[in-house]
Amino acid sequence: MIDRAVRPEVRSMERPRHGGDVWDDLDVKDYSSNVNPFGPPPRLERYIVEAASELHCYPDDSCARLKGAIAARYGVDDSNVIVGAGSAELIRLFAEVFISPGDRVVMPSPTFSEYAFGCRLMGARLIDHVLPHEEDFALDVAELAARLDGAKAVYVCNPNNPTGRMVNRSDLLDLVAEAARKETLVFLDETLLELSSRSDELSLVPEVESHENLFIIRSFTKSFAMPGLRIGYGFGPRRLLNYLEAGRLTWNLGTIEQRVATRLMEEEQEHVARAATMIEGEKRRMHARAEKLMGRVPMPDSYFFFAPLDALDVSSAEFRRHMLRHGVLVRDCSSFGGVCSGYTRFCVKTPEKNDEFLDALSRAVADISEGRS
Ligand SMILES: Cc1ncc(COP(=O)(O)O)c(C=O)c1O
Repeated sequence: MIDRAVRPEVRSMERPRHGGDVWDDLDVKDYSSNVNPFGPPPRLERYIVEAASELHCYPDDSCARLKGAIAARYGVDDSNVIVGAGSAELIRLFAEVFISPGDRVVMPSPTFSEYAFGCRLMGARLIDHVLPHEEDFALDVAELAARLDGAKAVYVCNPNNPTGRMVNRSDLLDLVAEAARKETLVFLDETLLELSSRSDELSLVPEVESHENLFIIRSFTKSFAMPGLRIGYGFGPRRLLNYLEAGRLTWNLGTIEQRVATRLMEEEQEHVARAATMIEGEKRRMHARAEKLMGRVPMPDSYFFFAPLDALDVSSAEFRRHMLRHGVLVRDCSSFGGVCSGYTRFCVKTPEKNDEFLDALSRAVADISEGRS
């Protein structure tokens, strides 16, 4: 009976897979998730403890103070901001509010799996815009724009997860304009942009009020290295956000999340900026060493590497296993589909941690070449 009762979209649904699966062994060094290499700001625990004194009240359902802090940091109006339990909630909410069964939705492939997950749940018809691996998965935005006929929405992740490629601002603005002509919504994921030194130059956040079809997400998860607290936020024109607010889960952000996120937004921006500067130098150093060990490794535009494994002749899952033997977790990319099972993803951290990573890498490469499994 249950099999007949369930919505058809849910019956065949598979949960997306992600990195960061270290709960059973917290000593494993996690290079599979892309968070601030400095970890959370040292005052985070203090902020959490201070917020705990307010737990006897319901949280503010409007999240007014937090929205105000985010709006001030980004120079937009409070009414252009929405917050969610992680940006993952906003990915889901956008699909719930705007995607109807049969809607055509266009997205690059590979990209972050939650977009397709949310859209499939709503019964969308997904159109994959396959990124060319011969060109290190560069996204030609004009080609993507040419596929928007009849599309309800188009998704872009900048920089893209897992490939690490970025798209420039003027190309994105052209896409938003073309999408507006076609009555297509643009979902832009900037959660991985903030730890890049090019964040301000590439961000479309200042554009939201003047583009009725643009929605952008960002997150505390990456910038402040705190995936364990679920806090994300989004920007959009008022009319679009009014509809998202209409469909949003009541009390989606608890009191601790709201209070902590407000303090971080107001007082800890330096923590993010320092990481972005350090990452630039470390990325180059890691790249040179990784290429010596793995063969050609594309230089990422962002702070994580998406490296082909052809020279080592192992699959993504096998490479993950080899690295784990030396205490390091990298992302098995096979869940991204297609050619990705021949790639691995790992992030840039602090100089000492990167040395540990490179040491583990050289030992794993030696194991592979000597046929040890
Ligand atoms: C590109 C991208 N967007 C969004 C998310 C969701 O992050 P969160 O829900 O923690 O904000 C992730 C998490 O891995 C991600 O990689």
